[in-house]
Amino acid sequence: MKETDNLTRKTRELVASLKNKDKIRVLFVCLGNICRSPAGEGVLRAIVEENCDGDHWNIDSAGTGGYHAGQLPDKRMRVYARQRGIELNHICRKVKLSDFDDFDLILAMDDGNEQDLRRLAPTLEDAQKIVPMAEFVDKSFGYDYVPDPYYEGAEGFELVLDLLQNGCQNLFEILRR
Ligand code: 4NP
Repeated sequence: MKETDNLTRKTRELVASLKNKDKIRVLFVCLGNICRSPAGEGVLRAIVEENCDGDHWNIDSAGTGGYHAGQLPDKRMRVYARQRGIELNHICRKVKLSDFDDFDLILAMDDGNEQDLRRLAPTLEDAQKIVPMAEFVDKSFGYDYVPDPYYEGAEGFELVLDLLQNGCQNLFEILRR
């Protein structure tokens, strides 16, 4: 596996700075916080638990839009994730300014999410925590973003889960190696 192929120099430096921390605090961000980002949260949590490493992680997700606040993830995403042994129980919430204090790594699913996060970031230092999730995904997938599955069929949800399972495994290995 070529885990660092896609990482920019800035992301490599950020990741290196997190390696020795007692707790690695990761926030997944998409638009609605009902499909991609709660799936990312669930996938990474499952990998961390499989590796008995839960004490060293704080994992959450949020959306740049607040339309679905208070809801469970989209039923379709919950069903496809469950077929892979992953339960999604997150309650949807909007990104808040304190997230930039509370998390070390803020993973944006697509360019729009990244731009919205950069506009929200209170300081330049906070903005440096924002990284495209796709940087952690193997190049062979051919995706530089995690596509929104909301208006797609089963294949859209399966693709999101494929990208996230690969990217989160790489992220875990890079940080805990
Ligand atoms: P997500 O997908 O950003 O992956 O949670 C979406 C869910 C809902 C909407 C858009 C994207 N929406 O417009 O309601």
